Amino acid sequence: MTLTQETHAELREIAARYPEARSGLLPMLHLVQSVEGRVTPEGIEACAEILDITAAEVSGVATFYTMYKRKPVGDYHVGVCTNTLCAVMGGDLIFERLKGHLDVGNDETTEDGKITLEHIECNAACDYAPVMMVNWEFMDNMTPQSATQLVDDLRSGAEVSSTRGPRLGTWREAERVLAGFPDGRADEGPSAGPASLAGREIARERGWTAPSAERHDDGTATAVPEEPAEREQAVAESDDKVAQQAVVEDTSPSGETAADKDEAQ
Ligand code: FES
Repeated sequence: MTLTQETHAELREIAARYPEARSGLLPMLHLVQSVEGRVTPEGIEACAEILDITAAEVSGVATFYTMYKRKPVGDYHVGVCTNTLCAVMGGDLIFERLKGHLDVGNDETTEDGKITLEHIECNAACDYAPVMMVNWEFMDNMTPQSATQLVDDLRSGAEVSSTRGPRLGTWREAERVLAGFPDGRADEGPSAGPASLAGREIARERGWTAPSAERHDDGTATAVPEEPAEREQAVAESDDKVAQQAVVEDTSPSGETAADKDEAQ
């Protein structure tokens, strides 16, 4: 497939967004993927020519980041997090189940070209483990059953929404968004869920606020406690908790504490 004049124009448009044109390389590669379904040699040459860098430099970037694909990706890129927390919460089981259900291995695409399955690393969404991603949108708290239902729905063309994001488009459409051409769906769905907001809710209930900060000329800032007396009390309470915890951890099965042992010696 040959990149069209329109795609070349859009690649230049991306490069022109940045004071240093080569800063646009990452979104430019996403645009190439949105058009060609992967990073092709032609796409690499086009980026290199526009940015006045070598094809080897572009290729070095494209092979470094795992979001850039050298093999064609299906209509939906389905990632299963198999990093530590997700793995023990069921991610490994989900990945194995999907491999069998779709009859593909890691980084392979189903025969109908619909699903590319890949095991992926931590998505910083551990509070919803085990997590999957479809075209980089979150699917939270998955199970083997909900995972197989998800890929069946995607293959059948049913409308599917991310649990914390918009309706899912195709991988190529998502790549175009990553290139900086919005699809108008950014505000669909919740942007954060209860598990991620739990800390904020507790802080609100208890009236906790961040300390104000004193800003310095060099751009750094130092936290300034609002009420010194309250702060001292909080520190004292915190110290008490730490001391109590140390006693619990040092207590031997017989009930003897480290302090008791010291005294006995
Ligand atoms: S381990 Fe899966 S999102 Fe962090």
